[in-house]
Amino acid sequence: MNLPTIIVNFKTYEKASGDAARDLAFKCEKSAKETDKEIGIAVQNADIQRISSKVDIPVFAQHVDPVDFGSNTGSDLAHTIAYNGADGVIINHSEDQMPLDDIKTVIKHCHDEGLETLVCVDEPGLARRVAALEPDMIAFEPPELIGGDTSVTDAEPDLIKETLHNIREKRDVPLLVGAGIKDADDVETARDIGTRGVLIASGVIKADDQRSVLEDLASSL
Ligand code: G3P
Repeated sequence: MNLPTIIVNFKTYEKASGDAARDLAFKCEKSAKETDKEIGIAVQNADIQRISSKVDIPVFAQHVDPVDFGSNTGSDLAHTIAYNGADGVIINHSEDQMPLDDIKTVIKHCHDEGLETLVCVDEPGLARRVAALEPDMIAFEPPELIGGDTSVTDAEPDLIKETLHNIREKRDVPLLVGAGIKDADDVETARDIGTRGVLIASGVIKADDQRSVLEDLASSL
């Protein structure tokens, strides 16, 4: 699997749940094929098997727990996430944070299962500590901009640069940025700064015409 340059995080939006999740996954796949760009999706964990069996684009889980086989009722095990067809996992999203030790455990479990790891950070200092854990990708998302109208690329270009700098002090882990991303200009700014691409949710999911937003985003790559 090539690492995606755009990942659409379905979260638990109504327009990305049930049949709408399947439809959105098909739209992402179609946009990826037509534009020849790497678009991935992060679906609700319960949808991994249903959606990954229908689309041929990278499918990420939104969460994995730092547990191994055993007595862990209600937990999401990396092994089962991989078994059900996921290609990767989002770890430590701002809406689903975990301590650094757990991030380390989860990265190891995911790598043992062949899953790509995308670890989210909410500030540049954490990016340095996470980079040392050797994830496959890092995403920087300032929590206060998530779901809003102001994009991280407009509001915090210096923090993005600082995050990149901190990561590269440790190793060359590709960086995505997210929060308030809406269009091709935002993706272009993110790429000009040196990131690989974007993690996006509301800008696609809440759009009246999801396909045209996806194509606009991809056009800037
Ligand atoms: O994971 C993506 C995310 O948190 C950004 O959300 O709605 O600002 O694109 P949004």
